[in-house]
Amino acid sequence: MFKLFTKKNTISKIEEKQLDMSNIPKHIAIIMDGNGRWAKERNMPRTYGHKAGVETIREIVKECSELGVKYLTLYAFSTENWARPKEEVDTLMKLLVQYLRNEFEELNKNNVVINSIGDISKLPKVCHEELNKAYEKTKNNTGLTLNLALNYGGRVEIVNSVKEIAKLVEENKIKVDDIDEKMIEKYLYTSGMPDPDIIIRPSGEQRLSNFLLWQCAYSEFWYSDVKWPDFTKQNLVEAIFDYQNRDRRFGKVK
Ligand code: IPE
Ligand code: IPE
Ligand code: MG
Repeated sequence: MFKLFTKKNTISKIEEKQLDMSNIPKHIAIIMDGNGRWAKERNMPRTYGHKAGVETIREIVKECSELGVKYLTLYAFSTENWARPKEEVDTLMKLLVQYLRNEFEELNKNNVVINSIGDISKLPKVCHEELNKAYEKTKNNTGLTLNLALNYGGRVEIVNSVKEIAKLVEENKIKVDDIDEKMIEKYLYTSGMPDPDIIIRPSGEQRLSNFLLWQCAYSEFWYSDVKWPDFTKQNLVEAIFDYQNRDRRFGKVK
């Protein structure tokens, strides 16, 4: 089945994208970047960009849900982002709570499972309480799983997995030779989820910034200069369209 998307671009040329609905990525991961620069271009404080970025989250979550994507992982706050000015960190945490409170009904109605990856116990109490509440109330939904990456770091995630496994060795529950990829995966935050098929990074940067380091082994990368507050569902469709035209070989020959 194909679905036709029509996009008006800046020179108002009509561009059509035909998405193959039988090849929608199962797992899309997005590094939501460029909020600060978007605000700066408007002579506004960085926090203004973060507020605008929340509007994009709404649109993209809805679109992914409608397209039948199973997992959407949004990089919202990295383990390194604590080094930002306190005012900015506080605003990001407030926006998270507001987002969960304002969007909960709609997300639940749309059958979305709200989940997080990262060490949320280090977030302000109100944030992890709100997240746990949302998780409890939506865990039996069967639609899109929305993974919010919060206080997330790919290296810490791998270190934690290694520690869990080392404990098992120490307690003589397993042997060193029992350790394999599956076991490492079992102790990652993303345990039980498929690896991201595509990682999208807007704002012109072309790096991972400590995102899903283990899981990205065979992900397709898609970059765009559009800053996150300006990112639209048409950009998402474009990314999926390009993804569908990539040749994923996984090291094999065809
Ligand atoms: C992404 O936008 C949001 C977070 C990292 C929380 P930035 O705040 O990194 O925006 P830029 O990259 O400075 O423009
Ligand atoms: C990555 O963006 C983290 C999030 C989007 C949450 P950053 O803006 O923090 O990454 P760098 O500093 O440009 O690598
Ligand atoms: Mg950034």
